[in-house]
This record gives sequence, structure tokens and C-alpha cells, in this order.
Amino acid sequence: MIAIACDHAALGFKAALIEHMRGRGLEVRDYGTHTPDSVDYPAYAEKVALAVQSGEAEKAVLVCGTGIGMSIAAGKVRGTRCACCSDVYSAVLSRQHNDANILCMGARVLGEGAAIMILDAWLDTEFEGGRHARRVSMYAEIEGRQ
Ligand code: RB5
Repeated sequence: MIAIACDHAALGFKAALIEHMRGRGLEVRDYGTHTPDSVDYPAYAEKVALAVQSGEAEKAVLVCGTGIGMSIAAGKVRGTRCACCSDVYSAVLSRQHNDANILCMGARVLGEGAAIMILDAWLDTEFEGGRHARRVSMYAEIEGRQ
């Protein structure tokens, strides 16, 4: 299952991403927000990040105005590796090298077409492991020292 959430700045943008992923045959669960009313994005980032942490979601997508606030908030949840991406190269490398399990994007930064290309590249790219596995394991070590 792919978890997804947005704030008020990215409601239509999220709908386009959900439609696209469901069109690809993916199971998608929408954690809100569901109305254009102003909301606090950290609450939605946390819900989705906890779904990833628990294993309920395999991966997740978060969208807000810039993608930045959501990525900062989601990154506070242990076990998440959240990448805020505005280009395909970064999205691919965030999977190959960083094993990112949450993709963040900004609805006020990207058009829907670009976001869908970034999302597809991210979903279709595997973690390379090897030397990157050692480095990725160091993220959890940092968490353990907090
Ligand atoms: C909401 O106005 C905006 O701050 C939010 O969507 C996001 O861009 C935060 O980082």
C-alpha cells in the first residue's frame, strides 16, 4: 500500500497523483486532508510517516506547498527516510542511494505533469544496497544516539 497525504495547498495536486497511481494498479490510502480548509501539515506528515514506520504502508507520498514542511515533519518519525524532490534525477538517486521511503513534493513548485514523472521514477527505482546500505544504516544509528 502507498500512503499519501497533503495539506490545503496541495489538494488537487494530491488527487492527480492518487488517480495516476490507482491507474497504475497500485493500492493507495489517502490520509487527508480532504477539504480546502487550512490545516497544519505536520499532523498529516506524522500520520503518513507512522504508517510507513509500522509497515502498514510500503512507501508514502506527501505533498504541501513546497514539500519542505512535510519533509521536515515526516523526518522526525524514526525509521522514515524522506526525500523532498523537484526533479527526476534526485528522485531516482533518493531510491538508489538513500532508500527513501517517503517522497515529498511541492504543489506550488511543480506542475502535475512533472510531479507524475518524478513519482513514477521514484516508484520504479530500487535501492542499490552495497556501500549505500552501510550509509543508510547509519541514519538509524544517529536516531539511536538521540
Ligand atoms: C501552507 O501555506 C504552506 O506553508 C505549506 O503547504 C508548506 O509549503 C510548508 O512547508
